[in-house]
Amino acid sequence: MTPFTFYNPTRLVFGRGRIAELPQLIPTGAKVLLTFGGGSVKRNGIYDQVKAALAEFNTVEFWGIEQNPKVETLEKAIELGRQEGVTFVLSVGGGSVLDGSKLIACALADAPKKPAWDLVLERRPKNSIDYGSVMTLPATGSEMNDNSVISRLETDEKLSFVTPKFPLFSILDPDAVKSLPKHQIAASLADITAHTLEQYMTYPGQSRSMDRWAEGLLSVVREVAPALLAESEAPEDIVDDYMLSATLALNDMIAMGVVQDWATHAIGHEITALTGTAHGASLAIVYPALLRARFNSKAAKLAQMGRRVFNLEGTDTEVATQAIDALEAFFASLGLATRLEEAEINETVDARIVERFKTRGWKLGEKRDITHVEVAEILRLARPRKA
Ligand code: NZQ
Ligand code: ZN
Repeated sequence: MTPFTFYNPTRLVFGRGRIAELPQLIPTGAKVLLTFGGGSVKRNGIYDQVKAALAEFNTVEFWGIEQNPKVETLEKAIELGRQEGVTFVLSVGGGSVLDGSKLIACALADAPKKPAWDLVLERRPKNSIDYGSVMTLPATGSEMNDNSVISRLETDEKLSFVTPKFPLFSILDPDAVKSLPKHQIAASLADITAHTLEQYMTYPGQSRSMDRWAEGLLSVVREVAPALLAESEAPEDIVDDYMLSATLALNDMIAMGVVQDWATHAIGHEITALTGTAHGASLAIVYPALLRARFNSKAAKLAQMGRRVFNLEGTDTEVATQAIDALEAFFASLGLATRLEEAEINETVDARIVERFKTRGWKLGEKRDITHVEVAEILRLARPRKA
């Protein structure tokens, strides 16, 4: 294993009815900025629970953080937070509201104030006020990590940065996800799978512990998916594991001492930035193509996953090949498009993405050998409809 430091100070508060514990979690005397998305929390009762819990707190509300949060919107929240002298941010929503809140928290600690996009470009801004979350969509792992992904309308860009503070706490109430539309659940299952793969699907022989944890998460996601997408309400134990799997897939627990890839996410972010495709849906298109394009360097790990997660049999090459087909079939079983043509994404998008990678000179993948040339090949393989 490579040397590593594991540090994750987020207090994870898991279980039904635990939003009521907010007063014990938020620092006493805090002036709280409550951040929300487009209104799902009003319809499912989460807003009322949060407001009831915070009756004794001094709060101010900001609504309208959209999917793939836009810096233009967040600037308005930052302005409000400054005017009101906010000392704590509470995100109530999915990954977009929380990622946006991470940038708001950094900007509120930034003096002298610079444009929020500059903090994203800094990659590692130095200051942040404290923040926490009530998570309503299990997918991003943002509730227990220090990442944030922000979009900019003006230039159609979508870039990530690392916050200096993890969430102080995150409340995961599995009842909060009952109201999720099926297509959001499908995209989230693809995202959880992709997060696990970005840390696992490199080469074997690095860590048994990391491999088995990652394989466990991949198996759990496959196991819970049918019940989550069925017409009838999913049993509580299924929803519990769904929610926890999202957190565990991206809180660094499966990243200790192993190399990581993340090229699929980098390409997926460009697809989202240029077409608005939901984050998880973009990954279901890119991942199978990336594995086909990088078959030689990933074949050994693909064979391991094929046997341990998909129960495939045959020679290493056969199992590795079938493992990619099985992964693509899993994404398709969620109702997601796995090809650019199926998602009706125009070919001009491919060229723009390749051009962006060329301009940035990015070298991605666990071996830093995925340049714009390989990205072009990945997009070529991702394009045609399945035969
Ligand atoms: O805005 P509202 O009305 O709340 O509706 C949201 C939104 O329309 C809705 N929703 C959320 N919880 C709901 C609900 N609807 C009904 N019931 C509920 N309980 O779902 C829609 C999507 O929400 P969003 O927050 O955009 O989804 P997600 O949690 O998947 O977040 C995606 C964003 O996170 C970034 C993505 O790039 C994308 O911008 N990511 C963040 C990461 C991180 N911080 O570590 C890592 C990920 O790889 C990812 O890049
Ligand atoms: Zn993701």
